[in-house]
Amino acid sequence: MPNIVVGVSGASGMPLVRDMLAFMASIPRMRIHLIISRGAHCVMRQEGGIIFDELTSHAVHVYEPEDMAAGPSSGSWRHDGMVICPCSMSTLASIACGAGMNLIHRAADVSLKERRPLILVARETPLNLIHLKNMQFVTEAGAVVMPFCPAYYTGRASLRNMVRHFTGRVLDQLGICHSLCCRWQEDQQSGKAGGDEKKQ
Ligand SMILES: Cc1cc2nc3c(=O)[nH]c(=O)nc-3n(C[C@H](O)[C@H](O)[C@H](O)COP(=O)(O)O)c2cc1C
Repeated sequence: MPNIVVGVSGASGMPLVRDMLAFMASIPRMRIHLIISRGAHCVMRQEGGIIFDELTSHAVHVYEPEDMAAGPSSGSWRHDGMVICPCSMSTLASIACGAGMNLIHRAADVSLKERRPLILVARETPLNLIHLKNMQFVTEAGAVVMPFCPAYYTGRASLRNMVRHFTGRVLDQLGICHSLCCRWQEDQQSGKAGGDEKKQ
């Protein structure tokens, strides 16, 4: 039973995480533990009126970002990996310096110290040297920086299919079995598109 912690920070990309959570929740027995930062609430209001309930409906538990006594703040609380999507440059910087100012930063810090997968879907462009140095720093500490870079080779280039494919690649990083993305030289040759919405 995969237990995944998903942190949502205040970068642009609320429709992205909404769709990612829906795809993740389609994995049998998936348990999503969700933390939404205060900054994310602000961005949500700006991005097409994504409402809190659309994100939380896929979670088995939603934690307050200030709740530093919640399960994900402790190494003894077990999970199979953490994804921060979208990951703001502010949250990236806090993880890079180990500040632990909210539950997302703390849970990320704990994931690194416990050598559990930590995936950061960083969202900013262009990147300055501080962003790049922080990405280097967290990568050296064990995180995977994984910006949303849509794959155009998946057959049907709709945004939804690209998000589906990307979600599959994130789950690959977490070692979770799925059939969300098309596999190069596998599905391509058989003419099967793993990103096909009609297969859901
Ligand atoms: C509409 C909107 C869009 C934003 N987009 C980004 C973004 O793409 N990347 C980023 O690093 N910060 C972005 N910000 C700024 C962050 O929200 C801000 O730095 C905030 O303090 C992040 O806090 P958090 O990381 O704790 O959620 C955006 C802010 C707003 C209001």
